[in-house]
Amino acid sequence: MIKHFLSTEDWPQGDLEDLLTDAGYLKANPIHNHLQGKSIALLFLNPSMRTRTSFELGMQQLGGTAIVLQPGQDAWGIEFEPGVVMDGDAEEHIKEVAGVLSSYVDMIAIRAFPEFKDWSQDRLDHKIKGLAAHATVPVINMETIVHPCQELALMMTIKNHLKTVHRKKFLLTWTYHPKPLNTAVANSGLLIASKFGMDVTLLCPNEHYLLDDHYLKAAQAQCAAHGATFTVTHDIKAAYQGADYVYAKSWGALPFYGDPTAELAEREPNKHFMVDGAKMALTNNARFSHCLPLRRNIKATDEVMDADYCVALEEAENRLHVQKALMLNLMNQSL
Ligand code: CP
Repeated sequence: MIKHFLSTEDWPQGDLEDLLTDAGYLKANPIHNHLQGKSIALLFLNPSMRTRTSFELGMQQLGGTAIVLQPGQDAWGIEFEPGVVMDGDAEEHIKEVAGVLSSYVDMIAIRAFPEFKDWSQDRLDHKIKGLAAHATVPVINMETIVHPCQELALMMTIKNHLKTVHRKKFLLTWTYHPKPLNTAVANSGLLIASKFGMDVTLLCPNEHYLLDDHYLKAAQAQCAAHGATFTVTHDIKAAYQGADYVYAKSWGALPFYGDPTAELAEREPNKHFMVDGAKMALTNNARFSHCLPLRRNIKATDEVMDADYCVALEEAENRLHVQKALMLNLMNQSL
């Protein structure tokens, strides 16, 4: 049985805790040769700055090699659907890509955002699942419809600042953005905060901005298992009051998926969800974070981004440490 890292839903909390412990050690002691002779292929179907840099550098700092491929740009485009007549743009099928790369490298990571056409299809996450089905080496999710590496970095940051996280109030707030964005980081924010037993509040403008039922139910169940609460609200003041950690993300309304014009009309009246100093003043001296990239004075004000309570850069740095811990774990290397 190959151990993949597709979603934190597949990993017990204790195993994630172990990764975070190792990440803390790697933060203090970054250079090792535990992965000497090992390699990872990084498949980017979408742009990246943090993920690409932190995986490439992380592998180098562990003595291994990372190879970046951008299918459709510097590598052949990939067909993911089984059984199709490949008369479109894609030159090769995921079955061959997975088989060939598995013979070259020890791990394969992929970033494959949704197509933003049909959520009933995108929610199945078929690209990474197709890769994992045909690969004979561990597969890592670098963001699809969830972003589990970001989850690890977020929880490492939360634990650094809150020390004990159980029953602390985690607020995930929707924010405005000029485009309807992926729900992955929002889904992941709910998954990781609930997995660690935080009291989770989801704030969004109205019911159209609710996340997929799978993630709402998963978060609700995980909170309940810890005796913690899971709350959905459209009341900005109530959401911020008493929050210990504020996490912001923008995402598109799922009922308008594939119809950006209709979604824009739904989104435009909600620019006031931007995180600002007045909202943060309602919290319990909360830290603020975001996965980045972030448009200043659209999602959060300069005041918030430049405040001491903003730990977004720390979360970005932690991507490096948690991914190194993850790669060591998948290669059965202990520190
Ligand atoms: N947060 C994150 O994944 O950043 P990149 O899109 O730059 O990789």
